[in-house]
Amino acid sequence: MGPLLIWALAKSGVKRNKAINILFMFVRLVSLWLTIFPMAYYSIQNIPLTDLAKEFGTPLYVYDADKIREKISVLRGAFEGIDLTIKYAVKANTNLSILRLMRENGVDMDVVSPQELELGLIAGYEGSNITFTPSGVHFSEIEYAVSKGAIVNLDNLSVLEKFGQTYGSSQPCLIRIKPHVFGGGNEKIMTAHPESKFGISIHQKAEILAIVAKYNMNVVGLHQHTGSDIKDGKTFEQAASALFDFAFDFKDLQIIDLGGGFKVPYSPEDPGVNMKEVGQIMSNAFSSFCAKYGRELRLWVEPGKFLVSESGTFLTETNVIKRDPVKTFVGINSGLNHLIRPMMYGSYHYIFNASNQDASKQENYRVTGYICETDTFSFDLKGKENERLLNEVKEGDIIALANAGAYGFTMASHYNSRFLPAEVMVDGGVARVIRKRETMEDILRNQE
Ligand SMILES: Cc1ncc(COP(=O)(O)O)c(C=O)c1O
Repeated sequence: MGPLLIWALAKSGVKRNKAINILFMFVRLVSLWLTIFPMAYYSIQNIPLTDLAKEFGTPLYVYDADKIREKISVLRGAFEGIDLTIKYAVKANTNLSILRLMRENGVDMDVVSPQELELGLIAGYEGSNITFTPSGVHFSEIEYAVSKGAIVNLDNLSVLEKFGQTYGSSQPCLIRIKPHVFGGGNEKIMTAHPESKFGISIHQKAEILAIVAKYNMNVVGLHQHTGSDIKDGKTFEQAASALFDFAFDFKDLQIIDLGGGFKVPYSPEDPGVNMKEVGQIMSNAFSSFCAKYGRELRLWVEPGKFLVSESGTFLTETNVIKRDPVKTFVGINSGLNHLIRPMMYGSYHYIFNASNQDASKQENYRVTGYICETDTFSFDLKGKENERLLNEVKEGDIIALANAGAYGFTMASHYNSRFLPAEVMVDGGVARVIRKRETMEDILRNQE
């Protein structure tokens, strides 16, 4: 487009150098405009966020179905040529409408509890499309998953032994390995390092093989999940190659499961993972492993955030502005009861005033909740409590938090006896409620 613009300007009599300057000015203006007015953030499928807040009330989780479809297709495209199965890590967002959307788009499920499994079945999945990857659960939960036709990822030697005793060779299983790799956005979301509770240590191969041989177990796959918010292809490669080195002693493998953890962009300037590049790195490593192993295997990945994080926006309303000698607080009608990620992990959520797109008057605000704990939402990208430069906020304004599709609603609680937010999905330009707002009856249910 650039050369075309220069050519058009030159043709209309503007000197070449001047044309280049005009082009640069145009590019700068566009990028400035994109920084100040990230318009895409203010609406979902052309429905303004403020309209959604007005129609459905706040606090409100809103999901863009098209964004989820786009992310599924980006992920598939990144592993072109590989026999890939996407196992959505449903813990990120278990709303039935999202599960149905995943199923309609050929995405399988990875679950961590019998209840998540049940939700999958209700959403129309067959047990055989579901993987159960539990950690520290009672064996009866594993038996339940097997009874529903799900395949289980075993992550503990004693559980492996029990599985062998119970099912011998009759039931296929995967084994979750801890590859002793450090990877993840911060230490709370790293799951493959030596001290992590997840997986069986890569250094316990002899014990694993002894149990597998003792019960003639049908180990069809090996699994590892490094952690969350990983951007760097090298980390994925390192974890995968540890698993591949480990795999040669397992003769009947059909599946390699490399987990999830692909980092998403958290702000307009944050690029997130380069999925194409990471997919290429993982695909190459996987293909050369298959060649050495002597058989074509299936590759599984189990992303949560990558598929749903960006689809979600959390809409809240400004209850109060508190002007303090030290800081100005924006107090919204939510708190850690509805979105705990910032307080739990120091997670960053891009925050903006959906009621005011005029960037000519901005101020630094600390965005906080209404819960009787310190529930600050405005952590910076380094995970520190902070202020955000927002377009001027007035009481009643709709404050929106991006990247709310993953680990938002699913981690919400009734703390302070407040209702859970409602959830809305926008699909085909139409917004519909996919989880009703709660009432006092929901709080009272099951109480004496
Ligand atoms: C076993 C397993 N797989 C996949 C995921 C999904 O991770 P992410 O949402 O970062 O993709 C998790 C997250 O905790 C996990 O524990």
